[in-house]
Amino acid sequence: MNDAAAWSGLEEARRWVREATRIAVLTGAGVSAESGVPTFRDAQTGLWANFRPEELATPEAFRAHPQRVWDWYAERRARLADVQPNAGHVALAEFQARHPDRLTLITQNVDGLHQKAGSTGVLALHGNLFEDRWLDPCLNSALHGGRLGCDPTSAVAGSPPRCADCGNLLRPGVVWFGEMLPMDALDAAERAAVSCELMLVVGTSGAVYPAAGLAHRARRAGARVVVLNPEPTELDDVAHLCLRGTSARWLPALLGD
Ligand code: OAD
Repeated sequence: MNDAAAWSGLEEARRWVREATRIAVLTGAGVSAESGVPTFRDAQTGLWANFRPEELATPEAFRAHPQRVWDWYAERRARLADVQPNAGHVALAEFQARHPDRLTLITQNVDGLHQKAGSTGVLALHGNLFEDRWLDPCLNSALHGGRLGCDPTSAVAGSPPRCADCGNLLRPGVVWFGEMLPMDALDAAERAAVSCELMLVVGTSGAVYPAAGLAHRARRAGARVVVLNPEPTELDDVAHLCLRGTSARWLPALLGD
């Protein structure tokens, strides 16, 4: 797309943003790319170059190799600890602050950068890399002094940490391949998709459902759909308008008043 065509597309999308009283935004790994975070389908690097995410981000992989999977997430957490949100994250947070209740942010990302930028009410469909939860529901209250469930404060340090009373393992609070998404977040995202007048689909290949299905739901419910991505995506045919650009450069222009 040449610059003139891109610019005219942006002006029309800006008009749609101004006209919409309810906007839903679906983001993917691309919005964090300009913060230096590799997208999900970038090549794995370093120690993990020999593993595909599908061989690490599953319950089976964790049960078979708990330390390997725990260490992979520990390295991702360490790498992300000093990463800052970029202008795209900030533009979304600032729009929400200027226009409370007009924008619902739905993300597939687990890096916490939208939250770090100040976005609120973020619907994190795939969980959060910086949260842990117990691998199994522990119903053996006899082991826990009569209390149901393991007590995170009783976790014994390790890779991964485990419950001192029953040996249950802590695992990263992200959604793994083959796992259900958090129903409360998904329900809220579906409600936002079918009730918005404009959906912005930013920085996602649109390859993974049910997240990608939200764009279809919005279109069928009558919303205008805009895809923002430097590359073609699997959701381009759902869009009324595709903006070929990067989120850190185009979201500030798109959402600025
Ligand atoms: P992908 O890696 O599949 O896609 C990243 C998208 O970002 C691609 O379409 C890129 O073209 C685009 N992109 C790259 N740089 C960009 C930039 N600067 N600005 C805007 N877009 C840019 O990542 P996701 O679509 O997020 O699920 O992947 C979705 C899900 O697939 C992930 O959440 C993960 C994976 O399975 C789970 O972990 C459950």
